[in-house]
Amino acid sequence: MKKVLLSGITPSGTSGLHIGNYFGAIKQFVELQDKYDTYIFIANLHALTTITDKNLLEKNTLDVAMAYIACGLDPEKICLFKQSDIGGEVAELTWYFNCITTVAYLERAHAFKDAHMKKKDVTMGLFDYPMLMSADILIQDADVVPVGSDQKQHVEYARDTAQKFNNIFGETFKLPEPMIIESVSVVPGTDGRKMSKSYGNTIPLFGTDEEIKKAVMSIVTDSKSPAEPKNPDECNIFAMHKLFLKGEELEALRKRYIDGGLGYKESKDMLLAEIIAFISPMREIRNKLKREDIIKILEDGKNKMKPIIDKKMQQIRNNVGVNL
Ligand code: TRP
Repeated sequence: MKKVLLSGITPSGTSGLHIGNYFGAIKQFVELQDKYDTYIFIANLHALTTITDKNLLEKNTLDVAMAYIACGLDPEKICLFKQSDIGGEVAELTWYFNCITTVAYLERAHAFKDAHMKKKDVTMGLFDYPMLMSADILIQDADVVPVGSDQKQHVEYARDTAQKFNNIFGETFKLPEPMIIESVSVVPGTDGRKMSKSYGNTIPLFGTDEEIKKAVMSIVTDSKSPAEPKNPDECNIFAMHKLFLKGEELEALRKRYIDGGLGYKESKDMLLAEIIAFISPMREIRNKLKREDIIKILEDGKNKMKPIIDKKMQQIRNNVGVNL
């Protein structure tokens, strides 16, 4: 029996997705689906804590599902669904958790503290976010929950809440383990700093050839002439080649840098070809996927999910005492 892996993706849109996101996180995330019994959902209820525009929420939900499928999440292998399709059950469980959770305990959440400190108006949704997330995780009896390090505290909330519930109402929930997806390596941007939307140094993951070319040609280099020998380890272009070339190919390029005779323009042209070859299949899947396809995939996911959730909810309701 494979362990159960569960994770949620908040649908905050994909307009800024770049190859740094892919190599830093999405790739590792996608690779996990082969090792675990995997359940992934689009966390549209969590998104409501920041998005209150219906059209935007709908668009982002489809967009994010599409992007992850294009990047390799395989709906044949895993169960991909949207959170609101089990929203009734998750909200009910959140309520049970609310009734055994203190305000003081939720006031310790990083996201709440941060918003509070910045004197933002904190909604009940934001305040209760950790309980909704605990419900997502515990309703599935998840063994492992892969998340970015910013979400670690939320998985700890889920563990604590499981323990508390079990103590009060009897053994009901598994204690989930967080699995922190650390960026394997920092992906360098076009200016050599970490690739990040906020630095404006990204190469878009689903960009057109033209957009990718523009980004690659803007990679910052020194002004050595083509003939001069160059140090590959000080070159921003070479740093990106490392993402795409392995073994002998990379060594051959390294040698051309050191020997001299390779101009930065040529190196950029090579890199452009590597990026386009790499991105093309993903871009193609994404361009081919239609709205109806995604809706069908999410619908199938929901149908797979429903009986599992119903069964778990019966156990929970029995233990709480609302079933007679
Ligand atoms: N809060 C998570 C994020 O912003 C998304 C999420 C919601 C999630 N529910 C979850 C992740 C349950 C793992 C498990 O990234």
